[in-house]
Amino acid sequence: MDMSDEIHQHGRRTAWLTARLCAVLDVGANQSRDWAVAALTHDIGKLDVPHAVLAKPGPLDAAERMLVERHCVDGARRLLARASPDSDESTTAALAVALSHHEWWNGCGYPFGLRGIAIPRCARIVAIADVVDALTSARAYKPAWGLRAAVEDVSMRRGSQFEPECVDALEVIARTLPADWRAKAQGWGLQLTLEMGLAARVAVRADRTGPSAAAAVAHGTALRHPDEAKADDVARNAQKSG
Ligand SMILES: [Fe+2]
Repeated sequence: MDMSDEIHQHGRRTAWLTARLCAVLDVGANQSRDWAVAALTHDIGKLDVPHAVLAKPGPLDAAERMLVERHCVDGARRLLARASPDSDESTTAALAVALSHHEWWNGCGYPFGLRGIAIPRCARIVAIADVVDALTSARAYKPAWGLRAAVEDVSMRRGSQFEPECVDALEVIARTLPADWRAKAQGWGLQLTLEMGLAARVAVRADRTGPSAAAAVAHGTALRHPDEAKADDVARNAQKSG
């Protein structure tokens, strides 16, 4: 799979899990939607990381790790570059999430070493959704884990990497996740992406399709992409299946 497709799909599943976590954590409906939208683009900065590094099967050396860790700041820069001057709440959340989803509750994360509630709440929630999806996905350096193993792994990092309340919420939703949650999550996330129109997709596609696309984004022009029709079909099917 193309790396940018993988980043999209991971973002969609992360968005779905984020919305589920928000529901358990009593986050209001509007905020929950903003935070799910923010989750769509949390890893957008990975488009600036060399493919060979992201797809490396073995452990990363120090220089490679630095390249990967830059994706938080690079992602925020990408989002800022396309934000309108009167950017709304969802853009603010998207920036906070892109910047802070690798911060740790105990202050040992990156890029800033923020601790506890200094980390925006949306990022504390997306951090859990992000890791659950990453663990249950196959990567060049690891096979896909089962959901139970992923939840156990997150639970072991309760209070160190993750906010305790958010881990508790994950344990609640994990009891009722359907076996095909990843497919459902992806369909739901794709629908959300399409509903957002330019907001989430174009920031990614600008770099997939070259400078002319970037210019179109700058002028607020909707972009068509060869897989758009296919994406519309998938979204319609996702909507049908609820
Ligand atoms: Fe990330």
